[in-house]
Amino acid sequence: MKKLYLIGNMKMNMTKSSLDPYFTELVKVAEKTDNIVGVCVPYVYLCKAQKMLEGSKVLYGAQNINEHASGAYTGEISASMLHDFGCELVIIGHSERRQMYNETDASVNEKVKVALSSGFTPVLCFGETLDERNANKHFDLVRTQIELATEGLTADDVKNIIFAYEPIWAIGTGMTATSDQAEEIISYAKDLIVAKFGVKKNEIIMLYGGSLKPSNAEDLLSKPSIDGGLIGGACLKMEDFESIIYQNVE
Ligand code: 13P
Repeated sequence: MKKLYLIGNMKMNMTKSSLDPYFTELVKVAEKTDNIVGVCVPYVYLCKAQKMLEGSKVLYGAQNINEHASGAYTGEISASMLHDFGCELVIIGHSERRQMYNETDASVNEKVKVALSSGFTPVLCFGETLDERNANKHFDLVRTQIELATEGLTADDVKNIIFAYEPIWAIGTGMTATSDQAEEIISYAKDLIVAKFGVKKNEIIMLYGGSLKPSNAEDLLSKPSIDGGLIGGACLKMEDFESIIYQNVE
């Protein structure tokens, strides 16, 4: 049986009170599977995540990190602050941050380095727009994103990253990449990392994200190169998240 990584990205959703039953249930669900379960919560709920998830099998973390150690960066959160709340994961380079908050490949690379040197596991996102795919530029785009995001890293560093291929056209749209499309890019991206860092293909963890839901989870997660999922909308409803978490695939 393949051990899958199933990580929820809550984005800017949930309320303080809704997290009580949610975290209580998630701890129980994680106990009942060999899969690795994680959730990335809004910053303001990290305190609650720490209280309810620390010491459990559920990994938790943030959805962003600032690349600077401290200083005049209004509204930003540093690595040491995330440490204070026991975070293990941090999402970096999500397409929503790249598109709406002008995150560049260079800042993504800086954030990845800060996260790794601070002992977090970066959940490093990459993926193309529909226009890029239609223009057949998705392989080049993915290659550039991976190359720039991993610049200056070592083989050990890349083994400590959870990569996540999230085609932008499939995020929150209900349009899912077919399992063959996802497998094709993820296998290609792993090959790039193998060639650049001399690691083995099975040492790289790479997830699929984009309208992953109970009805398509088995098809996507059973693909040989796909190590799990980064789950947006479906992680908000525990019933759906649970059914994805309980997937057992070869
Ligand atoms: P959806 O699952 O809502 O499409 O979101 C995917 C995603 O962006 C996870 O980071």
